[in-house]
Amino acid sequence: MTTKPLRIGLIGTGFMGRAHSNAYRRVDQFFDSDHRIELRAVCARTEDAVREFAGRWGFDSHETDWRRLVERDDIDAVDICTPNDSHLEIAVAAAANGKMVLCEKPLARTAAEGAQMVAAVEQAGVPNMVWYNYRRTPAVTLARQLIDEERLGRIYHYRAQFLQDWTIAEDLPQGGAGLWRLDAAAAGSGVTGDLLAHCIDTALWLNGSIQEVSAMTETFVKQRHHNLTGKVEPVGIDDACAFLARFQNGSLGTFESTRYARGHKALYTFEINGEHASIAWDLHDLHRLQYFDHRDDSRTRGWRSIHVTDSDMPYMDKWWVPGLQIGYEHTFVHQVADFLQGLDRGETVAPTFRDAQETQQVCEAVLESAKDRSWHAVAQDR
Ligand SMILES: NC(=O)c1ccc[n+]([C@@H]2O[C@H](COP(=O)([O-])OP(=O)(O)OC[C@H]3O[C@@H](n4cnc5c(N)ncnc54)[C@H](O)[C@@H]3O)[C@@H](O)[C@H]2O)c1
Repeated sequence: MTTKPLRIGLIGTGFMGRAHSNAYRRVDQFFDSDHRIELRAVCARTEDAVREFAGRWGFDSHETDWRRLVERDDIDAVDICTPNDSHLEIAVAAAANGKMVLCEKPLARTAAEGAQMVAAVEQAGVPNMVWYNYRRTPAVTLARQLIDEERLGRIYHYRAQFLQDWTIAEDLPQGGAGLWRLDAAAAGSGVTGDLLAHCIDTALWLNGSIQEVSAMTETFVKQRHHNLTGKVEPVGIDDACAFLARFQNGSLGTFESTRYARGHKALYTFEINGEHASIAWDLHDLHRLQYFDHRDDSRTRGWRSIHVTDSDMPYMDKWWVPGLQIGYEHTFVHQVADFLQGLDRGETVAPTFRDAQETQQVCEAVLESAKDRSWHAVAQDR
């Protein structure tokens, strides 16, 4: 088998820059593909820091201007791990240079930006993918398999939460390194685009399209010191958001996210209730899937906690022996592996930019609904 190189140019060296670099370094050792990752270049704005990052993670070279990186002839795929306000510009430039584009979520700050990004990659005809990595948690992939096998029957309810507590302090500033998520200009929105986008992506994947939503949002701390301007400025993001949803399959959804739930760090949970069975998942215990089947014998019927580690479970034949669990970072390894195997077959791998645009449109309807306090249809013009 001859292997083809896939030369990566990664932009952004923060949380996701590290998660993706780790995945690129691991994938060839655990998964098979005709393509082999080469870490060709990494980009961040500070010379010393990006040089150190390149050395630590094994990139051949570094850049301090992403525009130079996307023009380089020795890069096949550009990976965008920067804050949301730069996704559009980088993705459009990368596609115009004929690069494959992998982009962190949310695809963009708004659906209008997202639409431009979808057009750019599709006009250029380049493979593209968005890092909604939770789909590739083995327990979540198993949930999808159980739903595809119609074990749940008709679905009645989809319930998701993503709870954190890190922005409660009133003296926490907004803007700049580490705190761009509190700055609406950089992030686009607050918990809706940052956290609910994950819940929405998983929900669309497991339970199909959402038709309409009714939402409320709140900004609990109205103004914060801005690290970039040096002034106290109004806070433009939603600190918390809850919304109701009607899915196309007739089921009802409730979604909630906040960064003000004291005691919760990254509590992403979902539960799906069907006619015959229910499933539930919890990021804090990500290697388990809870399953209840009403068709079981009534004397032994109950919620099962499935330890998703056996080799016949999604992705698990590539890792250790049954009983030994894997974690958060592996979801990114799985996403790279699927992308490479998609290239082998000449097939697109979900979620593409177009798939992620559906999440963008749900987020948009949610934010509009919260603004005018009425139900909003989700745009279907993807
Ligand atoms: N898939 C997930 O679960 C997940 C988790 C966290 C973040 N994200 C997404 O990943 C993206 C990055 O988030 P993060 O948590 O890694 O942020 P971060 O603040 O940790 O890192 C951002 C990086 O981008 C760099 N950067 C900013 N502007 C740049 C520019 N113009 N040129 C080059 N580098 C630039 C910063 O220096 C920093 O290295 C966001 O879109 C975020 O929503 C996704």
